[in-house]
Amino acid sequence: MKSAVIACFLCLLLSTGFTSPSNAGDTLTPRRPISDDGSTLTSDGGRFQLGFFSPVAGSPDRYIGIWYNISARTVVWVANRGRPITGRSGHLSMSENGSLLLTDGRSSTIYWSSSSPALVEPEARLLESGNFVVMENGSDPSSSAAWQSFDHPTDTLLPGMKLGWNLSSGLNRNLTSWATSSDPSPGDYVAGIDVAGVPQLLVWSGTQQIWRGGPWNGIRFSGSPAMRPDNALTLHYQFTSNSDETVYWFYLESSTLLSRLVLNERGLLERFFWYDIGQLWVSLGASPNASRNPCNKRVSSCGANGVCSPHAPTCTCLQGFRPKNRRTWEDGCERELPEADCRSRTDTFVMMNNTKLPDTSKATANRSTASLDMCRDWCLTNCSCTAYAASNLSSNVSGCLIWTSDLYDLTLYDNEDPGQDLYVRQVESRPLNKGLSTNSLLRRASALIIVSVILVAFLLSLLSCWIWRRKKRSLYCDEEETEGKDLDLPLFDLNTIAEATNNFSVNNKLGQGGFGPVYKGRLVEGQEIAVKRLSKTSSQGVDEFKNEVMLIAKLQHRNLVRLLGCCIQGGERILVYEYMPNGSLDAFLFDEAKRALLDWKKCRNIILGIARGLLYLHQDSRLRIIHRDLKASNVLLDKELMPKISDFGMARIFGGEDTEANTRRVVGTYGYMSPEYAMDGIFSVKSDVFSFGVLLLEIITGRKNRGVYHSTLQLNLLGHIWSLWKEGKVMELVNQSIDHSSSAAEILHCIKIALLCVQERPGDRPTMYSVLKMLDNDNIVEIEPSQPGFIDFRGPLDQTNSSIREQDLSLNYASMTMPQGR
Ligand SMILES: *[C@@H]1O[C@H](CO)[C@@H](O)[C@H](O)[C@H]1NC(C)=O
Ligand SMILES: *[C@@H]1O[C@H](CO)[C@@H](O)[C@H](O)[C@H]1NC(C)=O
Ligand SMILES: *[C@@H]1O[C@H](CO)[C@@H](O)[C@H](O)[C@H]1NC(C)=O
Ligand SMILES: *[C@@H]1O[C@H](CO)[C@@H](O)[C@H](O)[C@H]1NC(C)=O
Ligand SMILES: *[C@@H]1O[C@H](CO)[C@@H](O)[C@H](O)[C@H]1NC(C)=O
Ligand SMILES: *[C@@H]1O[C@H](CO)[C@@H](O)[C@H](O)[C@H]1NC(C)=O
Ligand SMILES: *[C@@H]1O[C@H](CO)[C@@H](O)[C@H](O)[C@H]1NC(C)=O
Ligand SMILES: *[C@@H]1O[C@H](CO)[C@@H](O)[C@H](O)[C@H]1NC(C)=O
Ligand SMILES: *[C@@H]1O[C@H](CO)[C@@H](O)[C@H](O)[C@H]1NC(C)=O
Ligand SMILES: *[C@@H]1O[C@H](CO)[C@@H](O)[C@H](O)[C@H]1NC(C)=O
Ligand SMILES: *[C@@H]1O[C@H](CO)[C@@H](O)[C@H](O)[C@H]1NC(C)=O
Repeated sequence: MKSAVIACFLCLLLSTGFTSPSNAGDTLTPRRPISDDGSTLTSDGGRFQLGFFSPVAGSPDRYIGIWYNISARTVVWVANRGRPITGRSGHLSMSENGSLLLTDGRSSTIYWSSSSPALVEPEARLLESGNFVVMENGSDPSSSAAWQSFDHPTDTLLPGMKLGWNLSSGLNRNLTSWATSSDPSPGDYVAGIDVAGVPQLLVWSGTQQIWRGGPWNGIRFSGSPAMRPDNALTLHYQFTSNSDETVYWFYLESSTLLSRLVLNERGLLERFFWYDIGQLWVSLGASPNASRNPCNKRVSSCGANGVCSPHAPTCTCLQGFRPKNRRTWEDGCERELPEADCRSRTDTFVMMNNTKLPDTSKATANRSTASLDMCRDWCLTNCSCTAYAASNLSSNVSGCLIWTSDLYDLTLYDNEDPGQDLYVRQVESRPLNKGLSTNSLLRRASALIIVSVILVAFLLSLLSCWIWRRKKRSLYCDEEETEGKDLDLPLFDLNTIAEATNNFSVNNKLGQGGFGPVYKGRLVEGQEIAVKRLSKTSSQGVDEFKNEVMLIAKLQHRNLVRLLGCCIQGGERILVYEYMPNGSLDAFLFDEAKRALLDWKKCRNIILGIARGLLYLHQDSRLRIIHRDLKASNVLLDKELMPKISDFGMARIFGGEDTEANTRRVVGTYGYMSPEYAMDGIFSVKSDVFSFGVLLLEIITGRKNRGVYHSTLQLNLLGHIWSLWKEGKVMELVNQSIDHSSSAAEILHCIKIALLCVQERPGDRPTMYSVLKMLDNDNIVEIEPSQPGFIDFRGPLDQTNSSIREQDLSLNYASMTMPQGR
């Protein structure tokens, strides 16, 4: 028994996909059927199983299905969706010609069957991809499937599975929701690719379109900003549209990760990711999200030539149009003025940015056009052309889409979602007759007078308001006076900050940090600031908070972002920082174009700067500060690309001590957290040294230390670097844009220092002081690094901005520390 298990384990390790001999457990043949007695087929690597199941424990209704063979059994495919077998008499068999039959042993009623061309020696195999394939015995399932479950999806799209059309055979693969979460019969919703005009992703309820995902733009579906590719998860989306097929599919770079896209029983397309440590599926978001954008509630809610916006007023008309019917937007908009004759017109275009492109079911694409100017010319040559846009944003903007009819379902995004530019034709109108035009001239003149009166009044009130504000503010804060002295912390007035940030407008939002959103602001005097609005989780009282902020404001170093002041008012706690025009380091590192700007000299300066800032926090400042969340997104770059650490001292504000301590609150970001911190909540300056090591490796390689978590396959950056380091091939990983020919020795030196920083045992890691000494002189470092501390530590989804807080971590944290019996 034991040896069989070991042998099986070995074959599991050795098997390399489809070519390995199929074990008995994954194949159904005419002589080897499956009965509902607990027998199942298990795919080669053990990932999927096929057999009988009940969606509700204890229910007599039995279905044939395929599920993920993981702790949370997840059904991904069902054969007899609407026709369950009652009781355990089901029987899945294969006829001599290769068709699959699901029968009830007692009555021989056929509950489900598959059709396929007659085969001579058929077999059906459950593949490690989750595909159940009928084929000739021994042939290659990827090319000679006579029937496959992937061609008949239920509600789930698995990696490698296609959604959409085989245009030559007419096969249309779409997803149909379950009726309820416990009833697999076909539900109300269908998601698929509509190939009319320019192909689009659509969700229907019956024959009614309920959501339009829009055309593929080379990166994602235009109307589905939530489903953009995730580099951190190495999740890639693909769309192919040619004369053979129009299909969408996705794949994961790493075959050890699990992800699925599901059309749920509420009609939402939701993407999940299996989080191994927590043994649960994590949702990566759903489309459409009506709470994010009310325009997602209905398709085309503003009618023809209407524009739907996430902010009030929801519906407006395109420029040059007016509502047809004052009472309802159903009728859409019509031209305000009649069109002039097309041949004599000089039309122009207005650009609308950040849009979900209008319905393309009547649009036309020309994928070979090279520039937007050509699209414009093409549009101008066709009198019925109403708008154009680029069809492919994936590398250089290329290709054209043109619309030659009314525009439907044009939607604006707010800045949280990336939209596309649409160029809408402004048709020159017919000259109106004279009487009318003098009349309208008079109207216009009087309107002009009224507008100017209002404007002057407005300006006057603005001026007096401003004077009053200045007076008022000088009572609160004396920025100018305190400069240079042993500074009292400037207290900002909430009104001043609200004004500077346009009332915390989403347009001003720079990002979402671990402790709250950050906004860009401009004070009346013109100074630019970054405003961090703390989320209300700190338990500190006002005085305590003020004290803490005051101490932090005293930390001043050229490699730390300067705290300018704070605001405590009306339940708000706000920190005001100097503004960094070049944004954060991660935006540079993980963006191909920007990364090219970082040559080795700049990288080295950035590394040294971060090290100096961190040393100051650890040792040179009067306070001893452990950062606890050092990462690329917490390093900002100034005009000269000098790095400045941000978010330091936040652990103090949110209630922590400043020496080695054991804390229940784990604040940090997976991928950067040291093992002892992530596992046991123990932090010290050495946890920061670990994060610094990870950051250093990211800078050198230009790659992210992904929170990829497979303990036997060392997939994360540290693991990868470590194995190459041992083989003496680590220079292969160095960022292409760094010219390493001339500075190879220095880079290698840096990698070694980084590896010393990420060693498993905190005691083995150098202090920042030694790190700087090593960095400063390129002497050979004698010590050899030992294995990095990543083996036991497997992070979950490394979402770039998300620092992990206590509440997010509780479950995972508990499961990680279980052995110690916490
Ligand atoms: C999958 O199924 C096999 C066979 O039933 C079982 O031994 C194994 O533990 C299951 N789980 C995984 C993760 O492979
Ligand atoms: C295969 O066999 C089944 C059952 O014997 C039969 O119903 C079906 O028509 C056959 N299919 C072909 C293509 O011969
Ligand atoms: C498939 O073919 C192989 C060799 O050609 C043979 O050994 C095996 O028994 C066949 N299996 C079935 C189910 O016919
Ligand atoms: C489309 O279906 C036909 C017939 O089944 C098949 O031969 C062809 O390979 C399919 N095309 C693609 C692109 O899968
Ligand atoms: C979904 O696919 C099935 C099977 O190909 C087809 O019968 C049905 O019409 C499709 N539904 C939609 C809305 O495209
Ligand atoms: C978009 O452009 C990229 C790069 O030029 C190309 O690989 C891709 O096939 C294009 N996609 C479409 C849908 O045209
Ligand atoms: C919809 O978006 C909001 C705001 O971005 C988010 O909080 C919510 O979780 C999303 N809902 C779904 C179902 O993804
Ligand atoms: C859209 O255009 C407005 C006005 O020109 C500009 O302020 C805004 O930054 C643009 N938004 C995007 C996402 O380009
Ligand atoms: C697409 O654009 C190219 C370049 O402008 C042009 O030569 C070609 O005729 C266009 N194709 C169609 C189908 O309009
Ligand atoms: C304008 O474009 C539409 C759609 O492509 C086409 O049907 C129509 O013939 C074109 N008209 C002219 C004048 O080219
Ligand atoms: C993208 O455009 C730039 C500038 O027009 C050009 O130098 C580059 O070669 C283009 N890249 C691709 C992949 O077409």
